[in-house]
Amino acid sequence: MSIFRSTSNVEQTKRAGTELAGLLLPGDIILLTGPLGAGKTALTQGLAVGLGVSERVTSPTFTLVRQHQCVNSQGIETLHHADVYRTNSLDEIEDLTLDELVERGGVAVIEWGEMAAPLLGSVAWRITIEVVDDEERRIVVDETSVGDRVSLVRTWATS
Ligand SMILES: Nc1ncnc2c1ncn2[C@@H]1O[C@H](COP(=O)(O)OP(=O)(O)O)[C@@H](O)[C@H]1O
Ligand SMILES: [Mg+2]
Repeated sequence: MSIFRSTSNVEQTKRAGTELAGLLLPGDIILLTGPLGAGKTALTQGLAVGLGVSERVTSPTFTLVRQHQCVNSQGIETLHHADVYRTNSLDEIEDLTLDELVERGGVAVIEWGEMAAPLLGSVAWRITIEVVDDEERRIVVDETSVGDRVSLVRTWATS
């Protein structure tokens, strides 16, 4: 089963991310899936705002993973923002040790997250951004992946 929230422009996608941030807890990992230009980075930028990141968040494509310090009421200290598009093997993704990094009060968002699914799919939130047309997007959350926060995510979807 899936829960989705539609957006009509990039600002709405960022806002969806900002509101989603309030549902996150230290240790969470999000696998973000969707084609180039879907809005994975835009959603992450919104999440960063919601987590209290003050610096600018850009695509980590050439660095694989960037760290951003956070200030928020959930006690999430670090946002680990990864983009695994350019990795060639699961080993390379495993070497990023994102599952260990989030244990130290962090959360991780992984763009092209489907590539990491064999490693992290069972413990991570799975979110797909579908491109409906030029500006219309559907942010689809796999509700089996969010544990006991389903009702919170449902409320987020209808906001
Ligand atoms: N509803 C929308 N949500 C997110 N981005 C949108 C939307 N409509 C248009 N866009 C555009 O799509 C692009 C999304 O880029 P980006 O977030 O970098 O995508 P990705 O990281 O998935 O490759 C931006 O140029 C943005 O302005
Ligand atoms: Mg991106």
